[in-house]
Amino acid sequence: MMDFAIFWDWLSFAVRWLHVVTGIAWIGSSFYFVALDLGLRQRPGMPVGAFGEEWQVHGGGFYHIQKYLVAPSEMPEHLTWFKWESYATWLSGFAMLCVVYYAGADLFLIDPNVLPMSVPVGILLSMATIGVGWVVYDLLCRSPLGKSDTGLMLVLYGVLVLIAWGLTHLFTGRAAFLHLGAITATIMSANVFMVIIPNQKIVVADLIAGRKPDPKYGKIAKQRSLHNNYLTLPVLFLMLSNHYPLAFATEFNWVIASLVFIIGVLIRHYFNTVHKRAGNPHWTWMAAAVLFMIIIWLSTAPKVLTGEPKASAAAEVYIASSHFPAVRDTVLGRCSMCHAAEPVYEGIYHAPKGVMLDTDAGIAEHARDIYLQAGRSHAMPPANITQISDKERALLVAWFEGAGK
Ligand code: HEC
Repeated sequence: MMDFAIFWDWLSFAVRWLHVVTGIAWIGSSFYFVALDLGLRQRPGMPVGAFGEEWQVHGGGFYHIQKYLVAPSEMPEHLTWFKWESYATWLSGFAMLCVVYYAGADLFLIDPNVLPMSVPVGILLSMATIGVGWVVYDLLCRSPLGKSDTGLMLVLYGVLVLIAWGLTHLFTGRAAFLHLGAITATIMSANVFMVIIPNQKIVVADLIAGRKPDPKYGKIAKQRSLHNNYLTLPVLFLMLSNHYPLAFATEFNWVIASLVFIIGVLIRHYFNTVHKRAGNPHWTWMAAAVLFMIIIWLSTAPKVLTGEPKASAAAEVYIASSHFPAVRDTVLGRCSMCHAAEPVYEGIYHAPKGVMLDTDAGIAEHARDIYLQAGRSHAMPPANITQISDKERALLVAWFEGAGK
């Protein structure tokens, strides 16, 4: 029988792969259309209702694209919709949230040193933050504030900072970043699902019925589309941030997350301006670099722990195992020179990936990771630098598989 942990690791790989593929498809088409939109030119003699056009060359042929605002006078015979890229990204993202953060809630979602809670409460809270994030955003957009693009963006940013701060007081730093990304990405997907596509459908229905569509639907969709455009890069950072403990597991993690939003917006602004042929705002790169330096500096502040560190209940079975004393000796001898709060291995300055294996609780919390990284596979220690033996690897496997039963 295949061990469950192995099945689970591959499931997580498959879901992650799907998520990356769909995400690339979504962001790719979104970037393309934003650039296309901004690059449209007007010329005399365009068809009635056409707003602008563009010639492009790619892959051995020339493309001639025209944009109709609000819609062409008649419904075209073939119409390609772009929506499944977005929906599939959200669905696969949610599946990954379940696989990584809900199934592994003890390790990745809930930090008893931040806020002790049971696993079901943690999962409900996680879903609630994502749902509430969308409702608050949507209400703000529909409020009178929505009339001013800039005013709305400033307020939304304030709300985001508040959410970032709040999340770091609910979950682990890693989950806080991931949830900030998930809330933002849900807003983007819901913009497509609840606003952009429904508005598009109203316009299409009007066309079919021979009515003249109201331009307000296009305008509302455009504002949401603008938000999606600016939110893309910060979301990518937040989704990948779990590889960088200096970002998510240090004292000012929520400030770092907030600054990342500004960097992402600056970079998008650069490309938007260039695509609009409205100049070359080099200052955005300067500003992004300065913010990045500030982030690096902020990340040097270590996380302060008040009181004794607490291990989760789920970890206790691994400490109770009869193999544990031998496992502890192995891990302390082969791993903890790197995986400690203050590593002694030359060139390693922080516990890699935030994985600390220098205490009983730390070893027990990471039982599954140890099993996969050093027991079943030879990923750790890197290049077997500390010369762990096959017998010791077998011990790690027996320990994890035995305690799981
Ligand atoms: C020479 C230093 C060093 C030693 C010794 C070492 N590791 Fe690592 N470990 C690393 C580095 C560096 C990374 C980050 C790798 C990366 O970025 O993909 C890492 C990552 C990990 C991760 C996280 C993997 C992930 O992708 O989430 C685990 C778990 C881990 N190590 C366990 C162990 C175990 C168990 C041992 C002992 C058997 C061990 N390590 C020994 C340096 C070390």
